[in-house]
Amino acid sequence: MAVLDIVTVGDPVLEKRAEEVTKITKRTVKLINDMIETMYEANGVGLAAPQVGVSERIIVLDVGEGPMALVNPEITEADGSEIDVEACLSIPERWVYVKRAQTITVEARNEKGKPVRIEAEGMLARALQHEIDHLDGVLILDRMLGEVEGEVVQEAGE
Ligand code: NI
Repeated sequence: MAVLDIVTVGDPVLEKRAEEVTKITKRTVKLINDMIETMYEANGVGLAAPQVGVSERIIVLDVGEGPMALVNPEITEADGSEIDVEACLSIPERWVYVKRAQTITVEARNEKGKPVRIEAEGMLARALQHEIDHLDGVLILDRMLGEVEGEVVQEAGE
């Protein structure tokens, strides 16, 4: 495995819609493993492939329950809304308020190509919405309701 460079805001790869993954190859699996290592190295709870310069619909997350990789994730249901603070590994030193759905259902493939369906709430729901946004070229700066003043020490990046 390898730690990859994380691209930051201003890079066009973060602003475009990422491509569907049509086939999960050895290269895809290596990318997923490298993304997981990169996420841990950066102390993040989530990472999307465009953040390592790869415009493909792949995300990885770990909100404290072990690593999860999703290929071609889609939000198929969303309910409620809540505002909370988010950070992003591609936007260093910024903490902003973002409104997200409270509960969501996500359908995707896992790293083995098997269909998975996730019903999420809380931090997982928020992290999934943040990462899936990255696949559509949407950043928290596009959704921010306001900025947190001063330093937030406990928020993990995504
Ligand atoms: Ni992010």
